[in-house]
Amino acid sequence: MKLEFPTMWAEEGKARFMVPASKPKPQGPGSAEAPVFYNPVMELNRDFAVLFLQAFGTSASRELEVCEPLTGCGVRGIRFALEVDRVKKVWVNDLNPQAAALAQLNVREAGVEAKVEVSREDANVFLSSHGKPGSRFDYIDVDPYGSPVPYLDSSLRALKAGGVLALTATDMAPLCGVHPKACLRRYGAKPLRTEYCHELAARILVGSAVLTAARVDIALKPLFTHSSDHYVRAYLAMERGAGKADRSLSQLGYFHHCFRCLSRRQAPGLFPKLEARCKNCGSPLDYAGPLWIGKLWSREILETMFKALGKMRLRQMHRLKGVLRKIGEEADRGPGYYVVSRLCELWKCPPPPFAKLLQRLRTLGFPAAGTHFHPLGLKTEAPLDLLRRVLTEA
Ligand SMILES: C[S@@+](CC[C@H](N)C(=O)[O-])C[C@H]1O[C@@H](n2cnc3c(N)ncnc32)[C@H](O)[C@@H]1O
Ligand SMILES: [Zn+2]
Repeated sequence: MKLEFPTMWAEEGKARFMVPASKPKPQGPGSAEAPVFYNPVMELNRDFAVLFLQAFGTSASRELEVCEPLTGCGVRGIRFALEVDRVKKVWVNDLNPQAAALAQLNVREAGVEAKVEVSREDANVFLSSHGKPGSRFDYIDVDPYGSPVPYLDSSLRALKAGGVLALTATDMAPLCGVHPKACLRRYGAKPLRTEYCHELAARILVGSAVLTAARVDIALKPLFTHSSDHYVRAYLAMERGAGKADRSLSQLGYFHHCFRCLSRRQAPGLFPKLEARCKNCGSPLDYAGPLWIGKLWSREILETMFKALGKMRLRQMHRLKGVLRKIGEEADRGPGYYVVSRLCELWKCPPPPFAKLLQRLRTLGFPAAGTHFHPLGLKTEAPLDLLRRVLTEA
């Protein structure tokens, strides 16, 4: 099929590929109006996908059959074929005929025709047609416009047991509580517009996928999660079995939040007794959920990703390392974080150097870490009155 628009060359990782010649926006979600979608800002998202898949292939120790049902110009799938050792075959698909045509050209230019198959179907039809045992995938990467929810059911049908489902959600306004009704409709959860809303957004995305999967006796568990630029992203390991699905549901819960004193508490379980008033200051409490309150990262995958990154050459190496290092520090801390400048604003004290604060809390016996979710985010289980003492005495 002939392309109906001018193209230009772009490069990412080991791939050189064509994209629409229109000038891309420097930031944000990219333009859905371009003849074929390509957003250079999502390079980091694709770098992490390559890195994760490399680590997953190493720890699963098997050849991978991979699917990208909403591929745009094909760059992500082509990068999987070129950069991930254990990838045996990649299926890329897009409903837009111009996208499928461009992806096909890019596959040929990259010399990966033997490994990458291009199709032009509705993503749900395509995934459902791979629902039979024997034609399922080890890894499905759902990177849509906005929410991945419309593709959850069909992705679960097309995923092998032991496989991984990767989800991007760019609809941060609903997930961060700017449009709570949209969040309730899409994810079945109440969001909260708090300073730690990016973590809540990731946890709502994971929680919603876990609930969807449990309906068909499938358990999902996050192996790696990040929030960068204008999106959240989760990599979920899949296992079959009613008991496993029940155990995954036991990791769902709620977050109580007091907007007056910034106190917050987890309430585990899908049907906990929600508290009406803050135990700390007596003000009415708000809440977010249901959402995932379990771990967002697997230590084993993180370590394998660190090792794999050392062998890769990527333009955004510095940023990738920075995010991974922060995640390495926060991975064992509980959910939620305080933003130090917000605490200092409330308690009218100057913010101390962040490293000094972490050190002080640790010497007082409270593990503390920064978080990749926010540059001034502090993860600690130290009680609020102790935090106040430490910050106001600094
Ligand atoms: C955000 S873009 C994908 C970007 C791509 N994953 C990447 O990393 O560059 C979303 C793509 O989904 C395609 N799309 C939208 N609805 C679809 C559907 N129902 N089935 C298949 N493709 C669809 C669009 O044509 C668009 O190319
Ligand atoms: Zn309070």
